[in-house]
Amino acid sequence: MNDVETLKSKWLGAVRAAGDLAALENLRVEALGKKGEVSGLMKTLGSAPAEERKALGAAFNALKDEVAAAIEARKADLGDAALDQKLAAERLDVTLPARPEPEGRLHPISQTIDEVVAIFGAMGFKVAEGPDIEDDFYNFTALNIPPEHPARQMMDTFYLPERQDGSRLVLRTHTSPVQIRTMLSQKPPIRIIVPGRTYRSDHDMTHTPMFHQVEGLVIDKTTHMGHLKGCLADFCRAYFELPDVPVRFRPSFFPFVEPGAEMDIGCSRKGGELKIGAGDDWLEILGCGMVHPKVLRHCNLDPAEYQGFAFGMGIERVAMLKYGIPDLRTFYEADLRWLRHYGFLPLEAPSLVRGLSPS
Ligand code: DAH
Repeated sequence: MNDVETLKSKWLGAVRAAGDLAALENLRVEALGKKGEVSGLMKTLGSAPAEERKALGAAFNALKDEVAAAIEARKADLGDAALDQKLAAERLDVTLPARPEPEGRLHPISQTIDEVVAIFGAMGFKVAEGPDIEDDFYNFTALNIPPEHPARQMMDTFYLPERQDGSRLVLRTHTSPVQIRTMLSQKPPIRIIVPGRTYRSDHDMTHTPMFHQVEGLVIDKTTHMGHLKGCLADFCRAYFELPDVPVRFRPSFFPFVEPGAEMDIGCSRKGGELKIGAGDDWLEILGCGMVHPKVLRHCNLDPAEYQGFAFGMGIERVAMLKYGIPDLRTFYEADLRWLRHYGFLPLEAPSLVRGLSPS
């Protein structure tokens, strides 16, 4: 019995003193392993007097259990301590920025084009493009603006020098020529939007010689004015990120549509501050209409069979309205302070799911 007490105090003391998990494992082998001291004690049981064996066996087992339990308890303590130490060593401030914020900013024009494309894209429109330098036919004649038509003077066109045949190319005055290019190269049904640069010889408070438009064109056999109105009203709600934007259509003239209209959106100008949405005032944002039969015929489409709508919108204008940019001319001053203020983070692409514009 004395052996049991001696071994108990020896091994429990050793366990308490074990400084790390490796030392503890060595102890375990030395005490409880096959050739360990406590296991050795068990083997003496056979040579003990028969009447003492039962009590001795119980005492040996109790010793074994106690040492094993002490080892487990110490193991848990040492394990916790090791983990704590590891965690402390690997401590990391997850609130620090993972990488520096990019310095560059997207120009509001690029951001607005991305937003417009995301909205019409979700409605099934594809993006189409055309050249900035246009042929007279695409920019004017095919759009039902023949030579001598007064609309040509209204456009303040930039002409390139005369070519050998006497004709002159132009810097496109609107994105509408891409309607013609698309109808001549694709079969209906057609559903396109055309964001792009346009040019007019005009420079004052509200005009720059280069500006941007987005054109829209839908051609099939059934699309009517009701579709035009619904589509553009939906666009306004999505673009201005408001549940309701009142719209109204006023009759207007554009040679390439019949009937033609201008669309206004509701706003209020209380206290000198312009707010889009319900109010008692209106603001014109785009021109639109049903594609003129003559335009369809110029594109070899039979107006008795095909019909559709078109619209054209100024990108700078809707960007200024949405983002509260007061002066058009600042868009093209290339002032970095302006861009830092009005620009957008380049990696936050607008989407209807994640939200159009960063908050
Ligand atoms: N091209 C016109 C402009 O620049 C805008 C426009 C009006 C385009 C009506 C259209 C339309 O497609 O249907 O002033």
